[in-house]
Amino acid sequence: MHTLSQRVLSASESQTLAIAARAKQMKKSGLDVISLSTGEPDFATPECAKQAAYKAIEQNFTHYTESNGIPELRAAVAQKFIRDNNILGAYESTILISCGAKHSIMNVLNAICNPGDEVIVIAPYWVSYPAMATVAGATPVIINTTAEQSFKVTAEQLQQALSTKTKCVIFNSPSNPTGMMYTRQEFDAIANVLAPHDCYILSDEIYEKIHYGIHPHISLGSYPQLAGRVITVNGCSKAYAMTGWRIGFMNAPKEVFEQAAKIQSQDTSNPTSIAQQAALAALLHADDDVETMRMEFSRRRDLVCGLVDAIGGVRFLQPDGAFYLWVDISTILSNNSTVTTASDFCQLLLDKHYLALVPGEAFGTNGYVRFSFAANDHDITQGVQRFAQLCTDLS
Ligand SMILES: Cc1ncc(COP(=O)(O)O)c(C=O)c1O
Repeated sequence: MHTLSQRVLSASESQTLAIAARAKQMKKSGLDVISLSTGEPDFATPECAKQAAYKAIEQNFTHYTESNGIPELRAAVAQKFIRDNNILGAYESTILISCGAKHSIMNVLNAICNPGDEVIVIAPYWVSYPAMATVAGATPVIINTTAEQSFKVTAEQLQQALSTKTKCVIFNSPSNPTGMMYTRQEFDAIANVLAPHDCYILSDEIYEKIHYGIHPHISLGSYPQLAGRVITVNGCSKAYAMTGWRIGFMNAPKEVFEQAAKIQSQDTSNPTSIAQQAALAALLHADDDVETMRMEFSRRRDLVCGLVDAIGGVRFLQPDGAFYLWVDISTILSNNSTVTTASDFCQLLLDKHYLALVPGEAFGTNGYVRFSFAANDHDITQGVQRFAQLCTDLS
């Protein structure tokens, strides 16, 4: 028997993808399943991106490109980071285009981590961060947050968790799964805590464009006291409804960029040539589409919040951004002797009421479920009704 990689064996699989796959399979077998579990916009990719892709094929732009991405796209991303995010040190030469933001983050962690290094992750976290840190050979260190602190790490908590072993701290604002966004004041305090520590900061800003106007989006890469240490990750998946095209990008300090680019050159090489042309068109010409989608998400957020608010025994904070509602079902679980975890709850919800939600455990926090409102009104309305039914059954 051969021995497999301990790093990979000790990492978990993506629960969100597993639940979505199971719901899809049940639907295929003829069951009336509603899935509010996926993390992708249900809109069509903007027309300008599609046209750019057709043109790329027609013009035989179908071969290898530069491994780091085509220069035009790298330049457009650098301009975007400077214009929209005030990122210090954003240059075409330090932009790496990859196969989705997931790939960008994995490249970064592989580039910077050594065994014994710690990667600080704030819970509730996006499912993949701890697993990625583990695969990269580092140890994820989880900081738990509560509803009272709006699921945002405080400067004091961060201060306590930082050590000489800390290689990187990962931030995600707007957050998946909570929809919370850090305010300027909160990031000011956090930046001051991070300033004296010799660690990298990975800022995952994939939901940047999807926010509802309560707080402006702030990029940690704009803080002078963190200059030279922030890796800013973003991509086309969420903003432009381009999840299947697999285009992510990042700006990194030169030494990180060089190692990440080396990994990519030995691993996937360039992201798909056609998708890069589509991404370039989206970055340059799809602002109106982004705004239309944002307005629609905003309407749906109000719809789902109104519906869930009417259910007794559950609580939530209104999301500032992203397209998720993070719902506290702990009261329902504590009143029940058989369904005691969010995983039990979601399993029963799918088996009995044919609704797929993601249990909080996937994000490192029990007692919660995540609704995605990247779905049509019918599915949202019916989905919340099914959820309410199970809450009633269990009360
Ligand atoms: C917080 C967060 N970061 C990164 C990603 C990955 O996005 P991509 O499709 O660009 O790989 C996701 C996707 O769900 C996400 O929610």
